[in-house]
Amino acid sequence: MGRAVKRVVYDERHIAAKVREMGGAISAAYPEGDLLVLGLLKGSFIFLSDLVRQITRPLQVDFLVAASYGDNTFSSGNVRLLYDPETKLEGKHILLVEDIVDTGRTLGRLMDLLSARRPRSLEICALLHKHVAKELKYPVRFTGFDAPNEFLVGYGLDHAENFRHIPYIASLQ
Ligand code: IMP
Ligand code: MG
Repeated sequence: MGRAVKRVVYDERHIAAKVREMGGAISAAYPEGDLLVLGLLKGSFIFLSDLVRQITRPLQVDFLVAASYGDNTFSSGNVRLLYDPETKLEGKHILLVEDIVDTGRTLGRLMDLLSARRPRSLEICALLHKHVAKELKYPVRFTGFDAPNEFLVGYGLDHAENFRHIPYIASLQ
């Protein structure tokens, strides 16, 4: 699979406990109204599927596929949607679910785009947050782990599309 795993950063039990805690916090944060959980593909697919099963209030699930463009992919900060949610966002609580926040540029552009659709509320939930950016235009409302500034894989996160299926989160050599 290319590079080798260096160390396990968060094991399965650690992740499961955190996801349960986040599900509880999200359930409590939305006492009423329509909640749409929007997963940002591909990285959030495992986290999202575990997370929604820990949320004890009605919700709907959809996904976003975003593509960065420009010379240097993610650092350009330009984003366009390859798959746009089917559902209307207007009047709903939208919870955007991301695997990991690094510079926050991807999220910043996406949030601009989504807020223009007049949701009732718009918040970010990220399993991992590197806290690299000095200030984020849109702070992360629900964070799982404050992650080390290493390249992490597993539990949905990839390196060149590999390692997504690993059930724990590891850093690479
Ligand atoms: P940002 O726009 O710099 O915040 O980048 C966020 C995106 O970059 C995430 O959704 C991931 O797809 C990817 N990314 C950032 N850091 C890592 C990492 O440590 N491992 C795997 N993917 C990462
Ligand atoms: Mg990725």
